[in-house]
Parts: sequence; structure tokens; C-alpha cells
Amino acid sequence: MKKVFVKSYGCQMNVYDAERMADVLAVKGYSETKAMEEADLVILNTCHIREKAAEKVYSELGRVRELKEERGEAGRDTKVVVAGCVAQAEGREILRRASVVDVVVGPQNYHRLPDLLDQADRGRVVDTEFPVEDKFDHLPLASRARTISRGVTSFLTIQEGCDKFCTFCVVPYTRGAEVSRPVARIVDEALRLADAGVRELTLIGQNVNAYHGEGPDGATWTLGRLLHRLAEIPGIARLRYSTSHPRDMDQELIAAHRDIPAVMPFLHLPVQSGSDRILAAMNRKHTSDEYRRVIESIRRARPDIALSSDFIVGFPGETDSEFEDTLRLIADVGFATSFYFKYSPRPGTPAAEIAAQIPESVKAERFARMQNLLETQRQAFNHGTVGRTMDVLLEKPGRHLGQMAGKSPYLQPVQFETDTHRVGEIVRVRIVRAGSNSLFAEQAAPGDRAAA
Ligand code: SAH
Ligand code: SF4
Ligand code: F3S
Repeated sequence: MKKVFVKSYGCQMNVYDAERMADVLAVKGYSETKAMEEADLVILNTCHIREKAAEKVYSELGRVRELKEERGEAGRDTKVVVAGCVAQAEGREILRRASVVDVVVGPQNYHRLPDLLDQADRGRVVDTEFPVEDKFDHLPLASRARTISRGVTSFLTIQEGCDKFCTFCVVPYTRGAEVSRPVARIVDEALRLADAGVRELTLIGQNVNAYHGEGPDGATWTLGRLLHRLAEIPGIARLRYSTSHPRDMDQELIAAHRDIPAVMPFLHLPVQSGSDRILAAMNRKHTSDEYRRVIESIRRARPDIALSSDFIVGFPGETDSEFEDTLRLIADVGFATSFYFKYSPRPGTPAAEIAAQIPESVKAERFARMQNLLETQRQAFNHGTVGRTMDVLLEKPGRHLGQMAGKSPYLQPVQFETDTHRVGEIVRVRIVRAGSNSLFAEQAAPGDRAAA
């Protein structure tokens, strides 16, 4: 049996896509391996979002080349595929820069992988066309055994692509226009996941709350309505969704946080900046106040909701006082956790053309200040949960014998002392201590009321 090794970079869409690629290759007789050196097929599933992410591919390809040569000396063939957003953005350029690569395939064309590998026997191939057919109609769903082996939480892509064109971002170019999958397909996939023991679904999309899929009734369904439907599936105890745009947080979705117990009290809602001038230059199409109002409305619906965001420091032209506006927004809102990045100019995006690029030293200084504030907020949030009772979904064995690792409703990693519980159980625990990255918990006393 042939073996495939897939390495993914970037966002959760790539994690999901890596599984779909492995599924389509499983049908062709490939089994997955975690060791690159024993792979007959190496797939790098790449990310183009920042320069560092994109450059990683080429350094990794250097390592792959050595392996391919070593295997070649032992008489074994190795095929190398570059997939993902660098593949889409750079296409044929990758063949020029890296002679080790056999196939370059964009994110919309994974269903064609088996064909492309056959073609690669006759010469190197590139497939980055946006196809007319929907790849999801051609990608097989995982077998029950494969799904079981992947654990009790799962991503499920419901929407792909982006029409928003933030001026810093490559995603609209690498992933194409926004497309929502039909409700029936999503429900079918969710039912199969639940049947294989999945307890928590994270619905994913580059703009997941812009979801507008065709419902079984012929109407267009929103994300709020879809959440109601998925919550009815036996076995599915938890629902999450990511990543959302502030402009698409409609009232129905906000109400879902109040009305559906399975919808977890955690929301990743990137704002990028707290300055209205920068937000406009980013083409975010909302102000800092509008963001604050969305947050207020979500907190009215679900007072204990934990919030997370993405921030960019050093967007072209960002002044000290505009950066301070962002710190003020962070201080006002209070985030449980966040991601923050130094602005990285990306080829082909409008912001990369702006003359007033910010020096690296200024970016670094702003980054450190932001890190300080967000890290303080994260620790405060975690310490604030000590002493509270909450439900934890057990996902895998813990760091030590007699421990299991799971997640709180607020997406915090939790280590739980137990010899008697199994993966997939949802246990009511009391948080006894907060470490730097995980919470530590013990079983709650009978009758303790959970916070969520
Ligand atoms: N679709 C999601 C996020 C996509 S990329 C959304 O709209 O929120 C994830 C994050 O990477 C973005 O939220 C942004 O904070 C960051 N990012 C995107 N392009 C960037 C760039 N050129 N430089 C630095 N950070 C960037
Ligand atoms: Fe990129 Fe903006 Fe689209 Fe998010 S909404 S993927 S940041 S263009
Ligand atoms: Fe990266 Fe593409 Fe995701 S650029 S963040 S892998 S959509």
C-alpha cells in the first residue's frame, strides 16, 4: 500500500482540506503516515497570508528534496505536491523555483488529485483554474473508521471564499468568490460525523457568518437557521463557528447564542484595528463603534460569552495615536484570547502599494505592547474561571497518566484528573487552577450548577 504524508500550514480550512485530500487518496489506495521519510507522496498544504507563511514552503521543499533523493537512491519513487493558497497564488512559479515539485494544485481542485498524479507520471502539472463544478460534489466523505480515528471534535466547511476584499488580504484571490454549500449536504456530513462519535462541530468558512446556503425548502438559509437544524442531530452536543465578520453578525445569529444550548459561548470576531481611519483604509466597512455595538448586543444575548479577535499592527500609514485607538478598543472590550500580527505586504493587494509602509522597528514595538495587553487579558480571563463549575468535553488522554484533556465551553484547554471517564464524554468539573496555557479541573460535586 502506498503512503501519503500531508503537512498543513495556515488556517482551519487547510486542516479540513488536508483530511479531504487524504480521503480522496484513500479511495486510490493510499494510507496516511505521520513520517515524511516513509511517504511515497508528500503534500504540502500551504498558506499565503503573510510573507513568513509563504516562505516556509520553500524551506520545507529543500528538506523534501533531500528525502526524495535519498529515497531515489534506494530505488523508491516520491511524488511531491504543493497544494493550498501558495499553490493558487504562485502556480507555475513554484515549478520554476523548486525542481522537486511534481504537482501544483489550488484549493478548488483537490477532487482532481488522483488524475493529476497520473498525469505527473508523464510530466509536471499545474492546476489552479477555478473549476465550474463544485469540488465537494466530487470529494468522497471519509469512511466511518477514518472519522472515528480523527476524534470527537470535527471541522465542517460550510462556506468558502471571500467577497470582502480587505486591502491587506490575499484570501479573496487565493480562495475565490464566496460560495455556500447547500444545507442538505452539510446536514448529511454532520449526521455521518455524529454517527462516528463526533460530539462537537466547528462550522468553518473564511466568512462563515456570511453563510447563505440553499435550504431543503428552496429558501436561502442563514447561519443562525443552520445552527438550529444542526443542534437537532442526536450526539452533537456542541456547535462552534469560525471565522466571522462583524458586518455579518445578524440578529438571528446573535439570538442563536441565547436560544440554542449547543451553541458554545465563544466567538472569534476579528476587528483588526480600533481606528476608524485605518478600518476604512482596510476596507473593513465598519467603524470601531459599530464593532462595540455588535459586541454589546452579543453580550446581552449571552452575558458569559468569551470573545476573541485578530489584530494587525503597523498597517500602512498607522500613526501612534491610531495604534492607541486599537489598544483602547482592546481595553474596553476585554478579550479571552486573540491573534495579532505585524502587517505583511502581500503581492497584488492594494495595501501593499501604499507608500507609507511602517518600519519594522515600529511594528515590533507596537506588537510587543499589544502582546502585553492581550496576554494580560488572556491570563485574567483564565484565572477568572478558577472556582467555577462548567462542562468539559473530553477529547484525548492528558499529559500525564490518570489525566484527560478536554475543552471548556470557552475553548480553554482543560486537564482533568480521572481514571474512569472516556473520550467523548462531557463531564461537569470544577476548575481548581489556571496554568499558563491550560486549566486544571476536578470532578464537580453532585448538584453543582454549571456556568455554561
Ligand atoms: N477571514 C478571516 C481571516 C482571514 S486571515 C477574517 O476575515 O477575519 C486571518 C487573519 O490574518 C486576519 O484576520 C488578519 O488579522 C491576518 N492577516 C491577513 N492578512 C494579513 C497581512 N497581510 N498581514 C498581517 N496579517 C494579516
Ligand atoms: Fe481576508 Fe477580509 Fe476576506 Fe477576512 S474578510 S478573508 S480578512 S478579505
Ligand atoms: Fe492561509 Fe489560505 Fe487559510 S492564505 S489563512 S491557508 S485561506
